[in-house]
Amino acid sequence: METKNGRPVAFITGASSGFGMLASVALAKAGYEVAASMRDPASQGRLREAAMQAGVQDRIEVVRLDVTETDTVESVVKDVWQRFGRIDLLVNNAGFAVGGFVEDVALEEWRRQFETNFFGLVAVTKAWMPYMRQQRKGMIMNISSISGRIAFPAMGPYVASKHAVEGFTETLRLEMLPYGVRVVLIEPGSYKTEIWGKGLQSTVHAEASAYPESMETIRRMVRRIGETAADPKEVIDTIVRVAQSPSPKLRYPIGKGATSGILLKQLLPWKLLERIIHKNISKKKG
Ligand SMILES: NC(=O)c1ccc[n+]([C@@H]2O[C@H](COP(=O)([O-])OP(=O)(O)OC[C@H]3O[C@@H](n4cnc5c(N)ncnc54)[C@H](OP(=O)(O)O)[C@@H]3O)[C@@H](O)[C@H]2O)c1
Repeated sequence: METKNGRPVAFITGASSGFGMLASVALAKAGYEVAASMRDPASQGRLREAAMQAGVQDRIEVVRLDVTETDTVESVVKDVWQRFGRIDLLVNNAGFAVGGFVEDVALEEWRRQFETNFFGLVAVTKAWMPYMRQQRKGMIMNISSISGRIAFPAMGPYVASKHAVEGFTETLRLEMLPYGVRVVLIEPGSYKTEIWGKGLQSTVHAEASAYPESMETIRRMVRRIGETAADPKEVIDTIVRVAQSPSPKLRYPIGKGATSGILLKQLLPWKLLERIIHKNISKKKG
């Protein structure tokens, strides 16, 4: 089978904005042919513009894929495989965040969170696995989060979905090891993308909450994090570096909030850690 221009091939989910869009351009710049998938190709404008500016527009092809439409995932993947001729990197990036206290969030919202962040990721992974196994090489890169390692109040659905991604990825890595397929987790802290405005701000309104005061505090915190979060460039640089690593680790936490949080969780007894988290939140109330 011919390979697309002899270059390595990357398939990315959720490439219309944020990490997915930036990683598509950065990987194209690093020499990959990129199949940039998104659920609505009409929203490819910013990706196109960024690709033009970087001079890599010919190396990025937009593919339509909603990761929750699991009956179409296999055919989309097969079509990309047939046209591109190989697969070197799958970046499971598509995701969003449902916020709210456990009691407040409707069961359908919990399910909606898992349909994208977990089952969508599993479906896309399963669709690419036979091809990677057949090649006996490739990398599956799952974009998790610090929320996959540490919980935070009022983010239960998101935290649970990312913890599920972490457990799934550990299993997958063990299963793929004999086939030369490398499996990694990227675990960013807070970075400036559209995720902060999309779900976390809108899922549960304070007035509808069983914990209105706490919900309002959390919403204010999320708004502020969204405004002051770090430049996603360091996440994108890590994605490109790890993608090219012949022998990657399992986990890549990124950002000082992520690395310090994980370290504290490893070092401190849980009872002390939960007191620190609660103290931090009540400080922000005042
Ligand atoms: N930003 C952070 O601080 C941060 C930190 C840790 C982890 N992450 C993770 O990074 C990943 C990317 O998020 P981001 O921060 O770049 O946010 P973003 O700018 O909102 O990008 C999310 C992308 O996922 C897509 N998406 C959502 N549901 C989808 C579906 N059903 N099918 C296909 N695509 C779908 C979105 O498409 P639409 O444009 O159609 O909505 C968008 O392209 C997520 O997995 C997120 O959990 C982000």
